[in-house]
Amino acid sequence: MKVLFLNGPNLNLLGQREPDVYGRATLVDIEDKVRKHAKALGVEVDFRQSNVEGELVDWIQEAKGKFDVIVLNAAAYTHTSIALRDAIAAVGVPTIEIHLSNIHAREKFRHKSLIAPVCWGQISGFGQKSYILALEASINVNDLKKHT
Ligand code: DQA
Repeated sequence: MKVLFLNGPNLNLLGQREPDVYGRATLVDIEDKVRKHAKALGVEVDFRQSNVEGELVDWIQEAKGKFDVIVLNAAAYTHTSIALRDAIAAVGVPTIEIHLSNIHAREKFRHKSLIAPVCWGQISGFGQKSYILALEASINVNDLKKHT
């Protein structure tokens, strides 16, 4: 089973960016943890980050037939991007939305996720653990997918 982790804008700055909101772990630290956990679970992972909306759209499109599940932290594009939403809907690869922070407990403009209606579920508010929870959830999603 193969899981594609995609990270949106400014997540390359994790560790130095608003540490009281996002924690002190860098994206590389998080990737290391995901890779270790994935190895133990026998899951193959690819882990990418981009500040460019179109690049994220391209990666979602290319995932069809190559990955079983996408785990997406779309960062600020969560709240603005119809293009990401349409890509997820078009491609049909089950996608799990994740966030480090609890977007529902923050500013009002973060409460709305444009991608949530086309995702299998949302994991929000567990810091870097959101990534591990999503990895575990992707196994369940893949099993459910086989039965639909
Ligand atoms: C985020 C939450 C978004 O609202 C924000 O724009 C981010 C990070 C999170 O992981 O908590 O950049 O997706």
